[in-house]
Amino acid sequence: MDPIKNPFSPGAGFPPPELVGRDPVLEQARILLGRVKQKRSEKSMLLTGLRGVGKTVLLNGIERMAIKSGYHTISIEAHEDKALGPLIAQHLRTLLFDLNRIAGIGDKVKRGLAVLRGFIGALKVTVNDVTSGLDIEPEKGAADSGDLEIDLPNLFVAIGEAAEDRKSAVGIFIDEIQYFSQKELGALIMAMHKVQQRQLPLVLLGAGLPILPCLAGESKSYAERLFSFPDIGALSENDAAKALREPAQAAGVAIKRPALQEIFRLTKGYPYFLQEWGYQTWNLATASPITLETVQNATAAVIPRLDRNFFRVRYDRLTLGEKNFLRAMADLGPGAHRTGNIAERLGVKVTSLGPVRAKLIRKGMIYSPAHGDMAFTVPLFDEFMMRAIPAFKRYN
Ligand SMILES: Nc1ncnc2c1ncn2[C@@H]1O[C@H](COP(=O)(O)OP(=O)(O)O)[C@@H](O)[C@H]1O
Ligand SMILES: [Mg+2]
Repeated sequence: MDPIKNPFSPGAGFPPPELVGRDPVLEQARILLGRVKQKRSEKSMLLTGLRGVGKTVLLNGIERMAIKSGYHTISIEAHEDKALGPLIAQHLRTLLFDLNRIAGIGDKVKRGLAVLRGFIGALKVTVNDVTSGLDIEPEKGAADSGDLEIDLPNLFVAIGEAAEDRKSAVGIFIDEIQYFSQKELGALIMAMHKVQQRQLPLVLLGAGLPILPCLAGESKSYAERLFSFPDIGALSENDAAKALREPAQAAGVAIKRPALQEIFRLTKGYPYFLQEWGYQTWNLATASPITLETVQNATAAVIPRLDRNFFRVRYDRLTLGEKNFLRAMADLGPGAHRTGNIAERLGVKVTSLGPVRAKLIRKGMIYSPAHGDMAFTVPLFDEFMMRAIPAFKRYN
């Protein structure tokens, strides 16, 4: 089939031809945005799930919805080695300039800029160019203590008041939220706590790997009260079939049932894999309808492509010790495993695994779905590890 007309779109953040199976979350977001805009309290949302399930495209979809309903938005992608303060300051500056352009006589936007100026001044690092255009006296004592857990809430309140002043609303969108430190997450949670108490028109929407198990004490109980955590996962067999069938149909091509069933069997309904199989199968097919045989032939091309583009890029960033840890985990089969069992499989003491486990979490390879358990952040990574290291050797 003509590759130019191929409707499927495998790739991180690539919008799918059809966003299937996410209506309940979209509806929840619509209500949240509507309520916050009218200054009614509602839990903020953090979309959580494994890599490749469609969190980013869903978050982007919700952002478009917010813009359409009159929100001013900023969208941030957290990163392994970027601190929250400088990252968010840059975006909030643009946002305040935006709000400043809306006609109005209040002085809350000016104050927002002064508070932001103070916030930036107190950051331990210098932020290139962020202060340019901010030729305003920093407000003293609002958000300049240097302690993020105090400053960020005050800054968010100032921004929320600026939005309220201009009869507008602000949406802060953060992807890959798991990369923030415990302290940074704590500050974000405290900030949303303060904003919600004052019923300001500011909403936070995030996406990432599950963060709740990483939080401790007060932050954790606040997070549970202030946020909802919709679990974004694989699609059901029906939805997976729809995600493949309908875009093909729109391009005048049918897919036979056994072909759809085979793709579901191989992908387990994970969106990234559905797009990849759909894409390759389309290119290989010579005529409509697409049959089981075409899917089987495409599989031979898909697996090495996935290995190369999806799995291998993550694998190549690992040290030998980290690879061994993951290989032992894969050896235990799919699903979550106790660190103790991984240590046993490796033939080492569990206490010796602490550092390597911490590094793997930091690199976003594994996460803790529940206390003491470890799981892969990438679906089907266990199968990849078996392909990458066919013969596994214990240390002892
Ligand atoms: N609901 C969906 N139905 C079909 N395909 C989807 C869906 N959501 C995402 N995808 C596809 O899955 C892939 C990964 O999406 P992405 O948003 O980058 O995932 P994540 O952010 O969770 O890693 C993309 O190719 C995208 O087109
Ligand atoms: Mg993503």
